[in-house]
Amino acid sequence: MFEPQSTAFAKNPYSFYANLRKLDEPYFYDSADAYLLSRYSDVEGAARNPILVRSLEAFMDPGYVNAQQRARGWHDMPNHERFVQFSLLERDGATHFRLRVIVLRALSRRLVEQQRGMIQTYVDQLLDQLLQHREFDFVADLASHVPGHIIGHLLGVPIEDCPQLRIWSENIVQFFDVGRTPAHKLLAENATTEFYLYLSDLIADRKKNPQEDLISSLVAAQNAGEMSEPELISTCMLILAAGHGSTIDVLGSGMHALISHQEQMSMLRQEPEHIQMAVQEMFRFESPLPFFHRYASEALVLNGQHYPKGTKFGLLYGSANRDPDQFPDADTFDITRNPNRHVAFGRGAHLCLGNHLSRLDMEVIFLGILRRTRHIELSGPEPTYKKSLSVRGPESLRVTLTPK
Ligand code: HEM
Repeated sequence: MFEPQSTAFAKNPYSFYANLRKLDEPYFYDSADAYLLSRYSDVEGAARNPILVRSLEAFMDPGYVNAQQRARGWHDMPNHERFVQFSLLERDGATHFRLRVIVLRALSRRLVEQQRGMIQTYVDQLLDQLLQHREFDFVADLASHVPGHIIGHLLGVPIEDCPQLRIWSENIVQFFDVGRTPAHKLLAENATTEFYLYLSDLIADRKKNPQEDLISSLVAAQNAGEMSEPELISTCMLILAAGHGSTIDVLGSGMHALISHQEQMSMLRQEPEHIQMAVQEMFRFESPLPFFHRYASEALVLNGQHYPKGTKFGLLYGSANRDPDQFPDADTFDITRNPNRHVAFGRGAHLCLGNHLSRLDMEVIFLGILRRTRHIELSGPEPTYKKSLSVRGPESLRVTLTPK
């Protein structure tokens, strides 16, 4: 019924999601030990429901939490447990709010917008090289380079180290998919340890020589007693892990959508003022992070159904964004869709803190590439998408460009 690791799901998860939305009750998915919420109204409501929280720690006894942690294979990885599994994304209540406000300050729309020139320069340099080849892999040769570079730059990482950030981030994040093995755990733990040691050196440097970067502003927050050093390290790791692969994936699926809808690509080339709506539609159409969990911190009733305290729910943002009850012609890619209240960035207390940055990356890249080309098409077969429930994006996307 629901096989997110299958080839069929990778090809078209939306028919699976449509079946889930038709069920009278949320489907219980064994592998994630969770009830899957698939309709827009249920997913959006759950993300905003204060009873539904990210972590068990605050309301279940430690013995139960420990048993759950072992059952999920979230144990025996000291650094990953310390810095990744208990980041601000996995906190609730006052601790979460305290850490969230610090990041919100550092990633505000205004501060992010100030990075436009830097992103533009970097993207133009990449395009200068790629346009000479005309045929390349949009994912590997362009998309994969941008988010790591930009987040690295924001954090204050030296440019030559940015490619390494991508490897650490991928190895840390792969741990969260279903089908976890001891090899996945080892990879995640080793990457976390290396990244932790690297960040510790960088933080020590910024304590002596503060700069205009995110690490320095987090160090200032630590000096002001607003966060501890492990929280600082964990927050840097989260910013990289949350924003890196997801942006690469949506760049790839967004380009794929434009190539498959040439009339929309032409419209965007001629009327670039549609770019913000087009980017929002890319997030809705192929949400790069389609699945997040919540726990019931109290017994609750959803749609007349009773659930005990501790119940786990899967919020299928990717399904909610294709729900025809919310989006007319939900399976149609329409860059002029308005309103477009998609939930690709979540909702409520954990609403994505990097949404301005990832949308800016997308705007700059798509405007840049469309401005410099007359036509873009696939140069190989239709791309295959990753086999995964928690991420969505093409493995690769070979394209041919006709420059202006
Ligand atoms: C393609 C881009 C992105 C997508 C689709 C995305 C999506 C999401 C979603 C759905 C959540 C909420 C998780 C939940 O409901 O439990 C989230 C949280 C978060 N995102 Fe993003 N994200 C993206 C890029 C970024 C970037 C670039 C950054 C940082 C620079 C970032 C930082 C964060 C952080 C820190 C949180 C945790 C917020 C909290 O728990 O209060 N994200 N993201």
